[in-house]
Order: sequence, then structure tokens, then C-alpha cells
Amino acid sequence: MLIGIPKEIKNHEYRVGATPSMVKALIQNGHTVWVQDGLGFEIGYNNQMYIDAGALIVPTAVEVYDCEMIIKVKEPQASEYELLKENQILFCYLHLAPDPKQTEALLKKKVIAIAYETVVDKEGRLPLLTPMSEVAGRVGLQAGATALQMANGGRGVLLGGVPGVRPANVLVLGGGVVGTNSARMAMGLGANVTILDNNLQRLRELDDLFGPRLSTLYSSPQLLEKAIVDADLLIGAVLIPGKLAPKLVTKQMVKKMQKGSVIVDIAIDQGGCCETSKPTTHSDPTYILDGIVHYCVANMPGACARTATQALTHATMPYAIEIANLGYKKALLGNPWLLPGLNVYHGHITNKHVATDLGYEYHPAETLL
Ligand SMILES: NC(=O)c1ccc[n+]([C@@H]2O[C@H](COP(=O)([O-])OP(=O)(O)OC[C@H]3O[C@@H](n4cnc5c(N)ncnc54)[C@H](O)[C@@H]3O)[C@@H](O)[C@H]2O)c1
Repeated sequence: MLIGIPKEIKNHEYRVGATPSMVKALIQNGHTVWVQDGLGFEIGYNNQMYIDAGALIVPTAVEVYDCEMIIKVKEPQASEYELLKENQILFCYLHLAPDPKQTEALLKKKVIAIAYETVVDKEGRLPLLTPMSEVAGRVGLQAGATALQMANGGRGVLLGGVPGVRPANVLVLGGGVVGTNSARMAMGLGANVTILDNNLQRLRELDDLFGPRLSTLYSSPQLLEKAIVDADLLIGAVLIPGKLAPKLVTKQMVKKMQKGSVIVDIAIDQGGCCETSKPTTHSDPTYILDGIVHYCVANMPGACARTATQALTHATMPYAIEIANLGYKKALLGNPWLLPGLNVYHGHITNKHVATDLGYEYHPAETLL
């Protein structure tokens, strides 16, 4: 298969869809890889490393998008829509539910779009979202700690406090991968951490994992409303895969927060779990609303692009090789955990949540392939 790896063009996005070693693995499996000139330059890779791995360097994204399969990181941006080709396999994050324009473009272009974030594993986990959730949970906590500083509009609270002064209260909504990683970092810095989740089993696991250092709370609007009043830093990390994030934090709740508190809405890529959240970029990551600093960057792992690229490609490589070796049809039909990754197929929506949230007819993938 002819596989193309374009440079990312989202704001301050330096992650890449394939490292030189992933390119080498694809080539060893009998495939041809075209890499865009300068791919990964900012994170320590260069053309020669990709050439040594066996890739052909092509000058621009226009040539890359002539390939049968495109492997990238973030969803195609508006200027990339026109480069997509009918029957082309697109393997990357998509996050379609909050993005009607992209969805329309992928449908119109009749691509075969497999989203990293809806591929599952035997245990029902999300193996291609997990590595970036691990990074985002940790980056998000660091961003929150920085936003709490006075010069950034925060209330001047140090997460760990100091001897004689109480630590900050960190409230994490959602105890999955992102939430657990944020909580772990926050506890490591000495903060007073509470996690809310509506999955009791998950709360039990977290309790076993962290013991009395972590407070767990069953997620209900009443308990959230009480807890939010004392939160110095709120981390949004809930997810219903493929769906728009539930808006757990209402505008009224935000008004009750202490001025200078911080919301880091990591679930912003699925629309955000606070009514006051709107996507921001690494160049202008925060805004202040009702006295609350909001940090809502939709590609947080891009901040630590080298770590994130290595973590991402460790996870995506086996799937990319499987799709390339077998072809998309055999790969999808032969692997019931890869199949949920298919979101758009030849002008049809094959993800139920995306179809419901955006008002399209849902076509189960098995009926089309
Ligand atoms: N902004 C970014 O750069 C970035 C990067 C990576 C991940 N993310 C996003 O972070 C979010 C969380 O991802 P994850 O990997 O941790 O997901 P996950 O599935 O591991 O965890 C989500 C948790 O939310 C809980 N949940 C669902 N509905 C809830 C509700 N109503 N109340 C309380 N808890 C609820 C679930 O029980 C689960 O424990 C996703 O939207 C993901 O796309 C964002």
C-alpha cells in the first residue's frame, strides 16, 4: 500500500503520525511510505532519518494526499479537506460529534475515515485514545497549576501549599485515563484531590489504587454543585465515546466558583463538559469568564509533542500495519475492536453517536462493508 504522512497544520501541533521507526516497520511489511518534507523537524526527526528508514520525501501535502492511506495525528483542517480523495483511508483522530463542518467534508469526499478515538480493545478500553489521554491529563494539570498564578489571572494558590498553609483543592470530573493522570500529578504535588465519576466500579478501583490520599465522589449535580464552590482547579475529563461531552458544569455553577479559580476542560475535543468552555489554542490558551480562568486547548498533548508522538505511535503502529497488510475491508471485518473506529464510509456515518449528535442517518459498518 502507498502510505502518506503529512505535517500537521493545527495551531502549534508538532506531533507526527509516524516516527522513522514506525515508517521502517511499515516498509518492512512491504509498503511504500511518502513523508512530507520537514516532518517532525521540530521534535528532533529530520528528512535523513526518514530516508534511512526507507521513505521517499515529497515536497508538500499535495503529493502526500495522493497516497492510498493517510496516517496523521489531528483531524483534517479546513484547508486539507480539498486534498482528500475518494476511497482514501484516513487514519487519525477525528472527534466528529462537535465538528459538523469536518463531518460534512469527509462525507462529501467519500473517504474511509477510521478514528483513533473510537477504536476499542477486548476490555472495551480505548487503546488509541489512552496514550494521548495520559499525556493530556498530565499536561492539563501543569497548565492548571500555571493558570492559578496571579500573572495569569489565577487566584494565586500554590497546588501543594506550604507548611502551615493549606494545599489547593483540585476537583476532577471523570476518573478515566485523563482524570486519573491529572489526579496522580495533583497528588504528587501535594494538592487535595477529589474525583467524581458516575461509574461506581471505577471509583472503587481508584480508591484501591490511591487509598485515602484521594477522595472519590459519585457524580450527581447536587454533589458537584457543592464541591465546585471550594475548587481552586477543576479538571474536565468525562467521556462517552464518540458523543458530545455531557455539560456537567452549568453557567450557574461557574458563577459560584471563587474568583481566580481555574477550569481546565480537557474534554473540549468532544465539545467540553462545562457550559462556559470554548476551544482555545496553544498560542492563546486561556480566557477569563465570570472571573474564572478557562484553559480549553483541544490538542493539549501537542505541548509535549515529542513524548506524545512516541506514546501515540507505539499504540497506532500495529493497527496501521494491520490495515495496510490486509486492506481496510479485511482488517475492519476481521477485527471487531478496530471496526468501531470506522466513523465515515463512502458518504455514510457509521458511528451511532456521531449520527445522533449531528442528525445524520446511522449506517452500521457491517451493513456497508
Ligand atoms: N484536549 C485534549 O487535548 C485531549 C487529549 C486527550 C483526551 N482528551 C479528552 O479527554 C476526555 C476524557 O478522556 P479519557 O481517555 O479519560 O476517557 P475515559 O473513557 O478513560 O474516561 C472518561 C470517564 O468519564 C466518566 N463519565 C462519563 N460520563 C460521566 C458523567 N456524566 N459524570 C461523571 N463521570 C462520567 C466515565 O465513567 C469514565 O470514567 C475525552 O473527551 C478525550 O477525548 C482531550
